[in-house]
Amino acid sequence: MKILTTVKEVREYVKNQRMQGKTIGLVPTMGYLHEGHASLVKKSVAECDVTIVSIFVNPTQFAPNEDFEAYPRDLEHDVALLTECGADCVFHPEASEMYFADATTTIVPDVLSKNLCGKTRPIHFGGVCTVVGKLFNIVTPDKAFFGQKDAQQLAIIKRMVRDLNFGVEIIGCPIIREEDGLAKSSRNTYLNAEERKAALCLSEAVKIGMEMVEKGEKSTKVILSAMIEHIKKEPLAKIDYVQAVDGSMQDVEEAEKDTLFAMAVYIGKTRLIDNFMV
Ligand code: PAJ
Repeated sequence: MKILTTVKEVREYVKNQRMQGKTIGLVPTMGYLHEGHASLVKKSVAECDVTIVSIFVNPTQFAPNEDFEAYPRDLEHDVALLTECGADCVFHPEASEMYFADATTTIVPDVLSKNLCGKTRPIHFGGVCTVVGKLFNIVTPDKAFFGQKDAQQLAIIKRMVRDLNFGVEIIGCPIIREEDGLAKSSRNTYLNAEERKAALCLSEAVKIGMEMVEKGEKSTKVILSAMIEHIKKEPLAKIDYVQAVDGSMQDVEEAEKDTLFAMAVYIGKTRLIDNFMV
């Protein structure tokens, strides 16, 4: 597997692959990879001739009070996992390679980025769109793979691709969970043993919500109340939000097909997210 660090190298690599008539899949990540990331890589390997995985802890999507410095990094482990998954190339740039110090142009998502995570992380999705847009321009993939775990991010990127006519197909992939239900996340590494147990209240709330929907409950108010009540029983949990929204991330009162039930909950200092879609 190739490890490239500059934009120029990636462009040359892609040009070479294209000359051989190969299709390109891109999996953007921030590294510290787990089976959730691996599922996206495997899907890309299955659907595209060449799979490029970017590993870049993107500074512009973290606010000053967030965990950019502390974000876990382990390139050696990531490379081993990606080799096992059959990825062809890793793009692992320095921040100075990705961003010009005097850059003046960014991508700012509008309505979809204001609700849910956008309420407490107002600059987050602008940073995500800018870096993902840059990666699309650098790699020019045929397909790019994103997890439903970050449902709002996936919705925003799909809208960005449509609005700005990026020539890439966005493939959403299901949430991969630990055996006990906790959604896999690089941030789970922040949890101590007690917090790890407490974190189960998120996936349990997801299950409660899903079961109510399956039984025919339509009122999001009733469903959300049951989910919130369950999370509140956990003393280490502090709710950021638990909401039901439509495809434009606007709150809805009735659960119907594609309604997204999403939550962000602090377990101690660690902010975790989870969701399910009807
Ligand atoms: P990161 O958190 O590393 O996630 C990279 C991709 O893996 C995202 O598409 C995310 O939704 C997916 N993913 C993470 N955990 C998952 C799980 N348990 N099941 C399925 N997919 C999962 O998301 C980012 O990085 C960044 O914002 C990025 C898009 C790379 C831009 O910097």
